[in-house]
Amino acid sequence: LSSTEVDLTSIQPGQAIKTSFRKQPLFVRNLTQKEIAEADAVPLSVLRDPQTLEERTKPGHKNWLITLGVCTHLGCVPLGAGEGEYRGPYGGYFCPCHGSEYDTAARIRQGPAPKNLFVPEYAFLSDTKVKVG
Ligand code: FES
Repeated sequence: LSSTEVDLTSIQPGQAIKTSFRKQPLFVRNLTQKEIAEADAVPLSVLRDPQTLEERTKPGHKNWLITLGVCTHLGCVPLGAGEGEYRGPYGGYFCPCHGSEYDTAARIRQGPAPKNLFVPEYAFLSDTKVKVG
């Protein structure tokens, strides 16, 4: 299976881009300190699919949130990366198909989706380059 390299240099804090990985949308987001703090402040007990931001990012790179851009309900592409910057009330991503709301760690918070946005396998090749897959 193919892998994808993503150059992080042009992605500013607070920005998310949409690229692709194995023909699926891939979201790469540079979280601000505020967004990290918001994710960390959420008790796991309120989460449908309980995971910490640490578990969803790599050590030393907690600001880089890399997920598929595929809603875990029925597979629409949520808004909040690239075009369609609208992120909904939880500050992460919003799926317009049936109203699933994801938070700044791309965890499902409201709406019909059962799971957090999927974090694919990836590794940092350097501080500014990741290899996904
Ligand atoms: Fe996203 Fe249904 S596909 S809410």
